[in-house]
Amino acid sequence: MTLERTADLSRPLEELHDNERLKYDSRYLRGTLAATLSDEITGAISDDDTKLTKFFGIYQQDDRDVREERRRAKLEPHYQFMVRVRLPGGVCKPEQWLALDAAARTTANGSLRLTTRQTFQFHGVLKRNLRQHIQSIVAAGLDTVAACGDDNRNVIATANPLLSPVHAEVSALAQRISTHLMPRTGAYRELLLEQPSTVAPDTEEEPLYGRTYLPRKFKIALAVPPTNDVDVFAHDLGFVAIVESERIVGYNVLVGGGMGMTHKVPATFPRLSDVAGFCLPKDVISVAEHTMCIQRDYGNRKDRGHARFKYTIEDRGVPWFREELERRLGRALQEPRPFAFATSGDVLGWQQGADGRWHYTLFIENGRVSDRPGRALMSGLREIAKVHRGMFALTTNQNLTIAGIDPSERERIEALLSQYGLLNERRATALRRNSMACVALPTCGLAMAESERYLPNLIDKLDETVRALELEEEPISIRMSGCPNGCSRPYLAEIGLVGKAPGKYNLYLGASAGGERLNALYRENIGEAQILQALRTLLQRFATERQSSERFGDFLIRTGIVPHMRAGRDFQTIAPVREAS
Ligand code: HEM
Ligand code: SF4
Repeated sequence: MTLERTADLSRPLEELHDNERLKYDSRYLRGTLAATLSDEITGAISDDDTKLTKFFGIYQQDDRDVREERRRAKLEPHYQFMVRVRLPGGVCKPEQWLALDAAARTTANGSLRLTTRQTFQFHGVLKRNLRQHIQSIVAAGLDTVAACGDDNRNVIATANPLLSPVHAEVSALAQRISTHLMPRTGAYRELLLEQPSTVAPDTEEEPLYGRTYLPRKFKIALAVPPTNDVDVFAHDLGFVAIVESERIVGYNVLVGGGMGMTHKVPATFPRLSDVAGFCLPKDVISVAEHTMCIQRDYGNRKDRGHARFKYTIEDRGVPWFREELERRLGRALQEPRPFAFATSGDVLGWQQGADGRWHYTLFIENGRVSDRPGRALMSGLREIAKVHRGMFALTTNQNLTIAGIDPSERERIEALLSQYGLLNERRATALRRNSMACVALPTCGLAMAESERYLPNLIDKLDETVRALELEEEPISIRMSGCPNGCSRPYLAEIGLVGKAPGKYNLYLGASAGGERLNALYRENIGEAQILQALRTLLQRFATERQSSERFGDFLIRTGIVPHMRAGRDFQTIAPVREAS
């Protein structure tokens, strides 16, 4: 038995990664899900099925805080599911917000999480509630298809389509790309929505994916310069809008970006994408389809640690890719157009759009929407959703824009924000406002250290230094991940912290503010005291030695404190430059 269409065509399935056979034999992702979802003896599904449910945005986890206690009591782990919504461009209507808020409180752990890829994540969904949970999302006109798994993931775009016609066009394109690249299997309908399949099993097919889908996940981002909120260089495929006289004339096509790596395995590294060419707006969907299919056919299906598109591009080169894409497209790409990014952060607070409507971007620390004393974020947003007539736009910095507020409504929204304590973030330092953490413990099975639960405390301590040095309005990006997979894009932060073991992190420094330069390793496997000591020393130097309006990341490179990381393949081998002082 061989794989259809792939470059591994001549290789028997047996020589490839076990997941390839699993996908091939799964009857388009059905596996044994019908049986394991109904099995009331355990809160888990079978191991094989856990790999298949990812294609439907469902990730089996267990509460790691109680793992040991349950093991001692001879109980199975506290199994639960993470559920991720497909939300291209990150936008939803107020009534959809209300539906998701209700689902979070009824069938999940009571909170919502806005993710670094512009969507909602639920945690703590129990197996017995899983179908009801998914069905409530679908009833709101959304779905969870391909939010995880070896497929094209949620397509992200520079936030807030209501900001200008250009933003609207880019957001609509994100929707179209997402729809075009969606898996077609009837398994979602049948097994999770409990509705009859619309396709007879023997005629079912996946026209774009085939039976083995992609070698690994595939991520697409669209950016509108000068804002690089999406971190377009961190994605398998990026489109950068080229705007002339307020009109999009086309898109630069970027290929081969990605964040994840494994500690101490130099063959794995974060990589920034390369600019491969320029295409017209009408060609974007075909470019996306063919690029994904090139990866389907040439991506490594034996070693999942080398299976992302970034390694296909690194190994074969951009000229090879461009030739292959042009052959499949039947026409040439144009030469890339100049573009420049100024920031990867969000503009917080009030902003007025081209049409006069207002938008309020709310800082949401690490994207966690829940109530806490003095700041009833979840309740406040629920009340706002009941009266808001525009939309909600999630940003890829885990923040939220209440978008499209009529001037006559602005006061009412501001009053609600104030009533629920949601204007407090105006007092947060720019360091905190530019912070991001991945989820990590207690739910993520891959976490080696805390992230979401710890970064706010670390920033409390750093804030003292920042305030003492009068740097509280200096936008320095700080991002933490609980493991090297890098879900919070830590390798693109001016300060990146990546978990190695409980309480221990690698400290990376010196990425650029616009997301065009990776950071570099500065200290390895250090605890809080050393992190604080290192950062306090460097912030002090920055405060006194910086050149006018120089950003922290650029300062660290100019002064030689860390090397300029030019290529991802050197990420794990270039030794940190030690401080001169
Ligand atoms: C390469 C290996 C990666 C693996 C195996 C992986 C796996 C995971 C897992 C298990 C979670 C669930 C954590 C939880 O909610 O408890 C997660 C969350 C997430 N991952 Fe990844 N991930 C990887 C890389 C990335 C990268 C590079 C990005 C984006 C650039 C990313 C984006 C996300 C997002 C947006 C979330 C949701 C939570 C958040 O906002 O932090 N992942 N990932
Ligand atoms: S970076 Fe690691 S610890 Fe954090 S959510 Fe991603 S996989 Fe989990």
